[in-house]
Amino acid sequence: MKFFIDTANLEQIKEAQDLGILDGVTTNPSLMAKEGITGKDAIMNHYKTICEIVSDGDISAEVLGTTYDEMIKEGDELAAIHPNIVVKIPMIKDGIKALKYFSNKGIKTNCTLIFSAGQALLAAKAGANYVSPFLGRLDDISVDGLNLVEEIRVIFDNYMYDTEILAASIRSPMHIINCAKIGADVVTSPLDSILNLLNHPLTDKGLAQFVADAKKMG
Ligand code: G3P
Repeated sequence: MKFFIDTANLEQIKEAQDLGILDGVTTNPSLMAKEGITGKDAIMNHYKTICEIVSDGDISAEVLGTTYDEMIKEGDELAAIHPNIVVKIPMIKDGIKALKYFSNKGIKTNCTLIFSAGQALLAAKAGANYVSPFLGRLDDISVDGLNLVEEIRVIFDNYMYDTEILAASIRSPMHIINCAKIGADVVTSPLDSILNLLNHPLTDKGLAQFVADAKKMG
């Protein structure tokens, strides 16, 4: 399973990259705004910087427009920033047309705001490289987000779609583990959920004992 980090924060992206486990980055307008990135030039430069930090991984950059014409114009500009840019397109009717446009041009896409298996199926049919089901936001409204990932896995396997399932809106290490059990291709997660995978009290206790015993050995 690939690990993407879901942030536009450069320090966190560098930290994940330094760990040696980072396969890519996802951003969205909310994450960019959180970092104070506003204006076209600043947005383009920020994506360029992220691509330079993660030299070997897909970087999802989301279009801001919601019409077909706006999305293909913005997507073409985003794709020109760096070969690793993946154009992130919302799951709307014009978005499906835009996915097909980019698929025909050989530009990679990530279809975002996926909340049903039918949406994922349409995106795959239109040639999306990734679909992003939002687990946490479904869990927030008492709908099982992991069940959606399972449904999409079955459908994509039935028809051998190349589209990768990119589990998003991850809120905990358990989300990551459960996505791995189901067979999600990618999980995009905040840094703290990735780092929390490291923790186990028995590891800490065992290491403290080993360190103490190592001192006895001189
Ligand atoms: O990148 C989109 C997605 O991961 C958003 O997550 O926590 O805002 O639901 P969240």
